[in-house]
Amino acid sequence: MIIREALGADLAALLAAEREAFGEEEGPEIAKLVESLLTDLTAKPLVSLVALSGRQVTGHILFTRAQIASNEHIPAAILAPLAVIPASQNRGVGGRLIEEGVRILSESGVKLIFVLGHPGYYPRYGFRPAGTLGFEAPYPIPEEVADAWMVRELSPGMIGSIKGKVHCAAALDRPEYWRE
Ligand SMILES: CC(C)(COP(=O)(O)OP(=O)(O)OC[C@H]1O[C@@H](n2cnc3c(N)ncnc32)[C@H](O)[C@@H]1OP(=O)(O)O)[C@@H](O)C(=O)NCCC(=O)NCCS
Repeated sequence: MIIREALGADLAALLAAEREAFGEEEGPEIAKLVESLLTDLTAKPLVSLVALSGRQVTGHILFTRAQIASNEHIPAAILAPLAVIPASQNRGVGGRLIEEGVRILSESGVKLIFVLGHPGYYPRYGFRPAGTLGFEAPYPIPEEVADAWMVRELSPGMIGSIKGKVHCAAALDRPEYWRE
């Protein structure tokens, strides 16, 4: 398996992987979101990575720019979405996409990564519930799924010293993307 930055020529294949991973109901909307984010100037800098098995795209991850109100000088990112096609799931592809993204973001100076996702999955990659740590999501997250809004610090000491509302790229800034 190879993980590398997505190229323009990968677009159709990575959108197909998004559709396949998220299924008939959610897939088309997620693929549309990814396409919008990739051309959204407010999403930049972004990191878009594909996992390849031979020439097949088996997974895709996207990190886009985030800003923390009152701490706008702190570089931050939002992880959304992460997709691994069913035939390649449970083999560590998702984990490797996350870790490679974290490595690239860390090198570029990003300090915090946020995600709204499965609270049983992301904590194994260092994410912790963000709400109780003082980070408000772009849209209110219902109490019963509050732990789906998570943060990972890439620089020790960030959590605890910074708090605030997190703002996302324009293409992600719609309430329907913030319902877990
Ligand atoms: C979630 C997803 C990205 C995981 O990718 P993956 O390559 O299978 O993940 P990994 O191989 O790194 O990790 C697999 C482990 O995560 C667990 N896992 C997978 N999905 C999970 C979930 N929704 N909740 C909790 N644990 C989950 C698996 O049970 C497995 O556990 P094990 O190691 O104890 O056996 C993939 O299943 C997927 O694309 N799902 C559909 C789209 C989606 O839900 N994306 C995430 C949106 S937040």
